[in-house]
Amino acid sequence: MELHILTLCYIIASVTFIIGLKMLSSPATARRGNLVAAAGMTIAIFATIFLFREDDGKKLHNYVWIFAGLIIGTIAGTLAAKKVKMTAMPEMVSLFNGMGGACAALISAAEFYHTYKINQGAVDTPFSSLVGVGQYITIAAGAIIGTISYTGSIIAWGKLNGRIKDFSFKGQHIVNMIILVLVIGAAVWAYQSAMGNIYLPFILIGFFAFIYGILFVMPIGGADMPVVISLLNSFTGVAAACGGFLYNNKAMLTGGILVGAAGTLLTILMCKAMNRSLTNVLIGSFGGGATAAKGEGGTKTQGAYKEISLADAAMVMGYANKVMIVPGYGLAVAQAQHTCHELEKILGEKGVEVKYAIHPVAGRMPGHMNVLLAEADVSYDKLLEMEYANDEFATTDVVLVLGANDVVNPAAKNDPASPIYGMPILEVEQAKTVIVNKRSMKPGYAGIENDLFFQPKTSMLFGDAKKVLQELCAEVKNI
Ligand code: TAP
Repeated sequence: MELHILTLCYIIASVTFIIGLKMLSSPATARRGNLVAAAGMTIAIFATIFLFREDDGKKLHNYVWIFAGLIIGTIAGTLAAKKVKMTAMPEMVSLFNGMGGACAALISAAEFYHTYKINQGAVDTPFSSLVGVGQYITIAAGAIIGTISYTGSIIAWGKLNGRIKDFSFKGQHIVNMIILVLVIGAAVWAYQSAMGNIYLPFILIGFFAFIYGILFVMPIGGADMPVVISLLNSFTGVAAACGGFLYNNKAMLTGGILVGAAGTLLTILMCKAMNRSLTNVLIGSFGGGATAAKGEGGTKTQGAYKEISLADAAMVMGYANKVMIVPGYGLAVAQAQHTCHELEKILGEKGVEVKYAIHPVAGRMPGHMNVLLAEADVSYDKLLEMEYANDEFATTDVVLVLGANDVVNPAAKNDPASPIYGMPILEVEQAKTVIVNKRSMKPGYAGIENDLFFQPKTSMLFGDAKKVLQELCAEVKNI
């Protein structure tokens, strides 16, 4: 009976994951979707704790350990999520993703140890005769993918918060490939080994996977981080699904597959958005050039830029027919989304058509700008995806770039030596006038100069986005 209830709980949990994921696809339902999936996960956790039975029919017994872990994890997770700033969200996602990878790897290690322990007497028996090849592949895949996801995500976390700098060396792709071969070699060796000699190859699997995760993410920099983050996310999903297979736990299996599939789809979409091939991502071979061009203000001298006063900027926008706002990371830093919406409304009242041009990797996480603007109740139909926005710039009078930089950098189209070359951008220079708001001439995430700021059509409007927008609102009202 209890087993049936457990299965039912797992089915309920799986259904809530699917419904929750579906609800995440719209800002209006995303918050509820998250809660629905979390409720399903809670049911699955408590059902496992109280109803699960081991092969010998015994219930779980080490409740002190289980609840100590649950309480510590709940407190740490809640505090971290409450404290985190919106702009630091990708770092937290990376860190949590790394923890998921580590858990999946530990499940594999525990399962491996479990098999070792129950066959301890058979020191000369090969591991391959005790564990079926399918089960072994699941254990090894969980350990390898989980470990790579763990170290890769920790490096990604360090890079996103600026603690870790890009690092690459000549021939790194080959070294990466060799390490990957060594990981697989160690896994085959472990399977062939006698029980008495199994520890060394299994430790080597973890060691090489650990190093591979670091080397795989270290050279990736600049504008390419979003791709690698979603890829690592899918790795964790696959590693968790392996755990689900091992324990015959349907909720874990469904959750893992959903995360793996969603992460893979997101990776493909990100690759498309960044104009990168997935093969390049998999062998960790892009973005290395970013280091060469990094540095405040870059090394190239671009000539002079011109500034515009608040009053003039307000005048130009107030008398325009069509204004396109390009939000970027700086808008999120300044938390100026509400003031931005206010300006949009004031311009709208004056008969100006206002739309937003959304680049898929603007900000620091997928959909960052959509979430930010939804928070300020900006109507969804005012948001144009990159391709549609690019079609409209030629008929736009004024583009107002708000804390965006890399996503409007023409070097992505014109400069083959640029680390962001090939990434599709918002082609704002097609508009009649471009006003760029940022605080200084410092570069954006990719660390490179932006020729847009020096073009004759462009005027710089320096200052914190929130303050500038507040003043613009006041000026436009007075026109
Ligand atoms: P960035 O290129 O990072 O530029 C943001 C600009 O905002 C900076 O140049 C900064 O200049 C300005 N800024 C910062 N604080 C400001 C404030 N308070 N007020 C006004 N301006 C402010 O941003 P982007 O154009 O949105 O491009 C995103 C970049 O992040 C891409 O390279 C992308 O690949 C990368 N990335 C994206 C993701 C995802 S999934 N979206 C994840 C990781 C990395 P000042 O310092 O001069 O003000």
